[in-house]
Amino acid sequence: MRYLGSKALLLEEIENIINENVKNAEIFCDIFSGTASVARYFKKDYEVISNDLLYFSYVLQMATIENDKRPSFDKLIESIGCDPYKYFDNETILLSQCLDIPFIYENYTPNPKSERLYFTNTNGIRIDYFRQTIERWRKENILSVQEYYYLLAGLIEAVPFISNIAGTFGAYLKHWDNRTKKTINLIELDVVKNGKNNKVFNMDANILIDKIKGDILYIDPPYNKRQYAPNYHLLETIARYDSPAIYGKTGMRPYSELKSKYCTKTPSVLVAFEELIKRANFKHIVVSYSTEGIMSAKEIEKILKLYGKESTFKLKRIPYRRYKHTADKRKHSLEELLFYIEKED
Ligand SMILES: C[S@@+](CC[C@H](N)C(=O)[O-])C[C@H]1O[C@@H](n2cnc3c(N)ncnc32)[C@H](O)[C@@H]1O
Repeated sequence: MRYLGSKALLLEEIENIINENVKNAEIFCDIFSGTASVARYFKKDYEVISNDLLYFSYVLQMATIENDKRPSFDKLIESIGCDPYKYFDNETILLSQCLDIPFIYENYTPNPKSERLYFTNTNGIRIDYFRQTIERWRKENILSVQEYYYLLAGLIEAVPFISNIAGTFGAYLKHWDNRTKKTINLIELDVVKNGKNNKVFNMDANILIDKIKGDILYIDPPYNKRQYAPNYHLLETIARYDSPAIYGKTGMRPYSELKSKYCTKTPSVLVAFEELIKRANFKHIVVSYSTEGIMSAKEIEKILKLYGKESTFKLKRIPYRRYKHTADKRKHSLEELLFYIEKED
């Protein structure tokens, strides 16, 4: 999934810094998990703990981290006579097939009740129908908890591919982008099986940190003032499907409780970051950040050295790939930062 600050392209760099510095680790925690790309990648090597403030991220984590195999859907197949993908694989789904209010169709597609152009009518109806059917199957107890999250994650992953947006859901485009003309279908996600007791959470990292312990803590906080909750409000609403009191041109859901301290200016971001490092019950700490971020590299280094063994400190600077070939000199100097430190015992 396209996601602000996704580390899908940095996985090998993160793995290198871990391999260069860590021996005999068993538990890896991705505490700002987002798309769960890092947690998913390291599941092959470690027991994984993952977490994010946003619920749609929790859905992705439940499906691919806590869930340890592709579900079999036995009870569902027995009840409906085929697997869910076959069941949903129907070119025409009608509005009348939605048994509850079609919240996405009514509010995010152009129709008599809304002018918003996030989805075509066809895809809006399909999203509502898929979402309502998954919920009904769970209520009827023909889906296990794992199967429920797996199907829901397949819907969340599919939505960005047919959305009329330029990157995030903070705004929709005025004209239909070509990608919106594709018909949405659920994606079947890969699940790495590691046979371990992987655990996922949906809370503030600074609260969770007191409740967990392990060997490697990977910290990838937001680095600028763009809050994630408003930028991904539609994924949150599809995941929760709670008919929120939306407002404004974009149909934003209220998000005051999901504002991140990591998107605020110094000193509060420094206070939050220092608390996280101080209270971390992990031997190895790896931090991702950007040279464009609110905290400076020097400030991060200072905090890490306050709670870690100074001699183990490492900082790797990785040129920001996306801008590598642009003529813009300022963007050429952008770097992804990877910090490592071993914590004091
Ligand atoms: C840079 S992104 C992580 C990207 C992720 N590594 C990936 O590859 O998809 C930062 C994430 O931190 C989450 N976040 C922000 N503040 C948080 C907090 N206080 N506690 C937990 N998660 C938070 C955001 O929702 C966002 O998903």
